[in-house]
Amino acid sequence: MTESQDPRALAQQAADTIAELTGVERHDIALTLGSGWGKAADVIGETVAVVPAEQVPGFHTSGVPGHSGTLRSIRLANGKHALIIGARTHLYEGKGVRAVVHGVRTAAAAGAGIMILTNGAGGVDPAFRAGEAVLISDHLNLTATSPLEGANFTDLTDLYTPRLRDIARSAEPSLQEGVYVQLPGPHYETPAEIHYLRTIGGQIVGMSTTLEAIAAREAGMEILGFSLITNPAAGMGDPLSHEEVLEEGRAAEPHLAELLKRVVALL
Ligand code: 6GU
Repeated sequence: MTESQDPRALAQQAADTIAELTGVERHDIALTLGSGWGKAADVIGETVAVVPAEQVPGFHTSGVPGHSGTLRSIRLANGKHALIIGARTHLYEGKGVRAVVHGVRTAAAAGAGIMILTNGAGGVDPAFRAGEAVLISDHLNLTATSPLEGANFTDLTDLYTPRLRDIARSAEPSLQEGVYVQLPGPHYETPAEIHYLRTIGGQIVGMSTTLEAIAAREAGMEILGFSLITNPAAGMGDPLSHEEVLEEGRAAEPHLAELLKRVVALL
């Protein structure tokens, strides 16, 4: 993406390309599926079209194992259309914050009023167990950056829409909620940093989601966020490995897919 290009114009170009390649004029909801959540794309509805990310303006193919590089259009049982953004760019890839939120802006330009953001994350609150899905109630953006530029003083109260959180809990009453912390990564935290995060009110820690949520709010979307706890954070269990994180994700996939299927049916 060139610095000079307006990010919203690029997102509109991407949305137009998606409409053309999928034959679906308007998508109602969008989902970004993080570690452990990918199987949802196969179960929430009927796939209409799968578009390779490199055919859509502004998307880069991901270098991270476990992240596919496609955009997928799905028709839900209730007749609504969902867009799966299977080409997430993380801040640690070094492509800049505009690239990180391009998928969200594209979803908004494609007509989506609801953005569902999911991720695999470390448990900071000892109440959360590996393999468990947690609803995101609020966030701490510790990336020291913002997807917004200029005098754009967007309010972030109730960022993770209470109405949608109520719907998620009606789909799965046992869901717990937690405050998600985003750090830039790509390294995991030290035990001292996790202690600090717990002290300031963080309950879940990862490397995505908050910048995307801010961009979604600015675009006028409602937001729903879920974390799969893939492991206890540093100092709260065994040392971390990316393999372990992916393995816990694979084990939880069928349950997470069913959870999202039940949630989107209620939207
Ligand atoms: Cl412990 N930290 C971060 N930043 N991301 C994670 C994680 C921990 N576990 C999974 N993803």
